[in-house]
Amino acid sequence: MYCTRKVQDDLIWVGANNRRLAMFEGVYSVPNGVSFNSYLLLDDKTVLFDTVDNSVSSQFFENLEYALGNRKLDYLVVHHMEPDHSATLRELLLRYSDVTIICNEKILAMIKNFFKFSDDFDLESQIMLVKEGDSFSSGAHNFSFIFAPMVHWPEVMVTYDSTSKTLFSADAFGTFGALNGALFADEVNFDRDFLDEARRYYTNIVGKYGAQVQALLNKASGVEIECICPLHGFVWRKDIEYFIDKYQKWSSYAPEKKGVCIAYASIYGHTENAAEILVTMLRERGVAVELFDTSVIPTSDIVSACFKYSHIVFASATYNAGIFITMEQLLADLIAHNIQNRVVGLIENGSWFPMSGKLMRAELEKCKNVTVLDESVSIRSSLTDANMAEISALTERLVGDL
Ligand code: FEO
Repeated sequence: MYCTRKVQDDLIWVGANNRRLAMFEGVYSVPNGVSFNSYLLLDDKTVLFDTVDNSVSSQFFENLEYALGNRKLDYLVVHHMEPDHSATLRELLLRYSDVTIICNEKILAMIKNFFKFSDDFDLESQIMLVKEGDSFSSGAHNFSFIFAPMVHWPEVMVTYDSTSKTLFSADAFGTFGALNGALFADEVNFDRDFLDEARRYYTNIVGKYGAQVQALLNKASGVEIECICPLHGFVWRKDIEYFIDKYQKWSSYAPEKKGVCIAYASIYGHTENAAEILVTMLRERGVAVELFDTSVIPTSDIVSACFKYSHIVFASATYNAGIFITMEQLLADLIAHNIQNRVVGLIENGSWFPMSGKLMRAELEKCKNVTVLDESVSIRSSLTDANMAEISALTERLVGDL
């Protein structure tokens, strides 16, 4: 049975939720599910904005059929060709054979790469190619197309509806988590319950492309936006500046909060012991701090926390003369996501030849504007009084720096 919601009088959410997906994009856990958003405008012409992931196709097509009523589908705007939004495009063409696809050249090339059509199918005749800044009217609504390359793929564009002042923002402004009846961010306590998942979504999906997100924010700042319709998560119709401000911070790699993210990789508990002592000392000094065990917490959560806090401490055992596996993976992920503008403290451990501190420092030198503090901790197997003094000195330095 259909399950839709009105976004505006003539705009209907026809997307669907998946709460059984174990790994989004095969790598990011989504314990609260994920929504694949699609929007149908019922103007003089009908316009569908994006399709959905294959896993929710039957719900989507049921929603679309219901929302269309007895009308035909005139246009499909494709913003992004990643299959979580385009996998059902081919089936849509079979079901709605008269539909005209509005897209750009890169999107068209990807449609041809992703889908094989029969020789007698004339795809080109159903394509309306648009360029940056082109406009289109569906009747009462007037649209302009804004290219947003690398937010999150090179073909991405977004659409601005100047009639309703709505931005169809593709992956930008998305949030992990299924929509549990609440379509709008103002229907939930977003800051308390969903901000962490919004940050985890942003940092892991598009965190690498901060400059390109900044470029999109600059373009979008030239238009009045009263509603944002992303491809995942909530629609924004209130407090839009709150979320744009978060995007400004995340995309410029500015810390969102003064405080410390501590990530530790411990084999038999001694490195963990040092991290526990540090987090306790920092708490005693009133510092905002979060602690993560890299062996059990998904890397995507820790990447998100590293984007949140101004200061980070990495604590790692030495393993095969290298950095412990889970810490190595975390650092590689942070570097891949362009983490920068942070102050970092290091704790190393090694039973016969501690190496992890030196190696972590070398990895962090690949980052832009990351300062590694001189105050560090070097453990040989288990903590000594000298190590306690080192942790105390690191605490003082962090407190003084915050
Ligand atoms: Fe939600 Fe880049 O796809």
